[in-house]
Amino acid sequence: MSSTANDRAAWLQGPSASCARVPEIENPFRLVLLGAPGVGKGTQADLLKQKLHACHLSTGDVFRAASKTQCELSPAMKVALDYMKRGDLVPDTTVWEMVRERSGCLHCGGGFILDGFPRTVGQAESLRRLMLEEGLSLSAVVNYELPVSEIVARLSGRRTCEKCKAVYHVTELPPKAEGKCDRCNGNLFQREDDRPESIKVRLEAYERSTAPLIDFYHNLGALLPVSAAGSPELICQRTLSALAARHVKQP
Ligand code: AP5
Repeated sequence: MSSTANDRAAWLQGPSASCARVPEIENPFRLVLLGAPGVGKGTQADLLKQKLHACHLSTGDVFRAASKTQCELSPAMKVALDYMKRGDLVPDTTVWEMVRERSGCLHCGGGFILDGFPRTVGQAESLRRLMLEEGLSLSAVVNYELPVSEIVARLSGRRTCEKCKAVYHVTELPPKAEGKCDRCNGNLFQREDDRPESIKVRLEAYERSTAPLIDFYHNLGALLPVSAAGSPELICQRTLSALAARHVKQP
């Protein structure tokens, strides 16, 4: 994690926790990252947050943090984790309850990068209403594009740090020491939903429920298509250039 990023405590643990450090940026970026599972949204959010100082708000990370907690899970969260394990989308009501109770994060002084939310038209409409009520607006919705064959290869080789959540790939972005995180020396693991049968379910759920968001945000004039081919650094640069070309303020 970069020294300019906060520790996401309020997002990962809920509103009773506070972040150790919150940057204060004039005109912060408020972005949504769209794209199929495995296209590289989390990898880009990690790079972009270092350039933009915005907080990385991933709904998948909240569910994975809940699955590792020692505390008793609510019945709704237990059901949500079953959906996630299979690769299915968690029901909108559960996701929305979880996001709404963290709505303070939308006011983060560094701005935010939403990753994995919204994922259905219903979630996008709820977010739009909430942001209007809170007097906030999105800077842009970045849609990462990549052929399905490359997406499956990215998902199958992904490894994640159990401590700091840094993301690697066994061949494309390998860690220096096998199975160990470069940043914190934590153990790397393969996500349960990166097994072939779950990958298939996730890609179907994306086509059915999330791809319609491309039209939704295009019609609102917020969509920014970006190719997700090439190295992570190249894609990050492409994203920053696309934001600049849209006259969204650079940091
Ligand atoms: P979530 O955690 O959001 O997963 P996802 O959208 O499926 O996205 P991923 O995290 O799998 O991929 P990514 O695009 O971030 O790619 P990454 O950067 O890791 O959600 C998980 C589950 O939670 C869902 O299936 C659902 O059950 C539930 N859920 C969450 N939010 C929900 C919501 N709003 N509504 C309902 N349910 C919800 O990269 C992938 C791999 O590729 C890595 O190994 C990486 O190192 C590698 N890579 C990245 N970029 C490159 C590159 N340029 N070149 C080569 N390799 C690369």
